[in-house]
This record gives sequence, C-alpha cells and structure tokens, in this order.
Amino acid sequence: MATNVFISHPIPAEVRAYLDDHCRCSAWQGGLPVPRKAILEGVSEAEGLLTVGGRIDDELLDHAPNLRVVSNISVGYDNLDIEALRRRGVIATHTPGVLDETVADLVMTLMLSTARRVPELDALVKSGEWRKGDDRVLYGVDVHHTSLGIIGMGRIGETVARRARMGFGMEVLYHNRRRRPDVEAELGVLYRGIDELLASADFVLLMLPLTPETAGFMGAERFRRMKRSAIFINASRGGTVDEHALVRALEDGEIRAAGLDVYAREPLPGDSPLTRLPQVVTLPHIGSATARTRHAMADLAARNLVAVLSGERPPSPVPELATAEAGND
Ligand code: DGY
Repeated sequence: MATNVFISHPIPAEVRAYLDDHCRCSAWQGGLPVPRKAILEGVSEAEGLLTVGGRIDDELLDHAPNLRVVSNISVGYDNLDIEALRRRGVIATHTPGVLDETVADLVMTLMLSTARRVPELDALVKSGEWRKGDDRVLYGVDVHHTSLGIIGMGRIGETVARRARMGFGMEVLYHNRRRRPDVEAELGVLYRGIDELLASADFVLLMLPLTPETAGFMGAERFRRMKRSAIFINASRGGTVDEHALVRALEDGEIRAAGLDVYAREPLPGDSPLTRLPQVVTLPHIGSATARTRHAMADLAARNLVAVLSGERPPSPVPELATAEAGND
C-alpha cells in the first residue's frame, strides 16, 4: 500500500511526479514561510516528511506518530533535534554533494565583492556621485596570490580550496576536526591550528556546521586574532558567529570587512548594525540558490525519502541517525 508523505515546500514538477509514483503525497499549498501549524497538521498521518529548515523536535514528532523519515532539502541539518529523532527511531536525510560547486561559487563572490567593494561602488555609480579624479578612494584589495584560511574542510571547503588554489593562486590554510591528508596531497592546502590560521590568513572563511560545539565559534577573542587587514566570510550558519562581536570588530577596525550569507536571525532584521556598515556585504542565504542546484537538491531529497520508505538504504542519511540497514556504515 502507498505510504503517506507530506511535502512542506515547493518542489519541481518532475520531482513531485517521481514522488507521486511512489507515495500518496499531500503538499502545503499556501505561501511561505509555511506556518508551523500547517506542518504539524500535515505530518499527522505522514510516514515521510519532505521539508526545508523547519524545526523537527519533540513537539512535531508528537504530532507525527507514523513518521519514519524526515528528508531535509538542505545539506545543513541543524534544524533537527537528533536525540528526539533517535529516541523514536526516525531516520533523517540531507543533501550533501550536489550543492558544493554552487556554494563555492558564492563564497568566491563574497570574497571578490568584499575585497573589491562591489556593492558599495555599484551604489556610488548608480547614485550619480561618481566623479573622475583621484581614484585612490575606490581602491580595494587583491584576492589573487593572498592567503585563505578555511575553518571546516568538508566538501564545500574543499571545493572552495580548489578554486582558490587553481584559479587565484592563493595559499590555502585550513583548520578542521581531523586532518585531510587527501586534500593536502591533491591541492597543497596546509593544516594550521586555529590561532595560527586566524593570525595569518588574509581571508578567513567559516564553513562549520552549526552544532552545540560550534555555536558562537567566532567570538570577540577570535576576531581579535585576525589581521586588521583581513576579511571574514561566513557561508555556513549564522549561529557559528557571535554577531555582536563581529559588529564590534568591524566598527573598531579589528578586521577590514565581512561577506555574509547567513545570520543568527533570518531574515536579518532591517535594523541590524550589519545593514549599515559599508564594508559588509550581506546576502540573503542564497548559497545554493540556483535553479539547477535547487532542483538537484530536491531530487536527492526525494530519492532519500523513497528509499527509506521502501526499506532501502538512502543515498545520504544524516550520519548521526544512520542505522546499519538504512544508513552509512
Ligand atoms: C544548505 O543546504 O544547508 C544551505 O544552507 C541551503 O539552505
């Protein structure tokens, strides 16, 4: 008999057709963001949930007595209460791999646009205030042949490192829970302790997943260790940064600039000090936001969901919840 699945976010028609071939699907039809109440109602009969970013916790699981799988259409899964899922034997899956190149493109965009002050100078031209004359006020700093320190050498970090090494001739330093001899050998990246990395990199890129251990990882002390000329980039999760400390570091000139795609609170409130600092480039969490990549993510999420509901091993389970029969071993 077909299994019930609730889809809380819009997905491409082909992906929906694939799911309809395998499951009895219902989907949220209203606007976004999906009201919490609608998700709680939607999961009441569901064995599978296909979703993006909503909190999956005891409250939701209490409403979903039949739930067997939560399929996240994202690589990050800090929206999951892992313990609550584990207690109930619910599998969760995510979408690593298919978004690496797209997010790496965005990281390079943030590096280039902070270094060369792209939004600020674009605004200058459009305001009609651009005057010919001494253009030293328009100077930026180089990206090529500088050094990049990557904190969190997962797949995306590695993909950025390849661009930085091959395309920009940068020296790439990295810090990670475990060394990556494979990436060191392939790309010539150099492992560094966190303090040394912060003290020597021209660009510091944070690519850590958000966990209790990484929350607030970049705080006042770590910003102080960075070079005054350095640029900070965050394309992981806003919660890995103490935003007050970041604002202070920027205001006090402890670092040069910041390029951000993610924030402690999203959407970033319009009155956040980050919105009024010209040396900060703010993007609305669009790391993976191209049509092709979002399609690939939805497709992988759907295949994960169907696999679990068919009793098969899903292509990309959340590692903490993978079981011998349904996950990576
Ligand atoms: C992810 O997949 O985790 C990206 O941040 C997009 O949400």
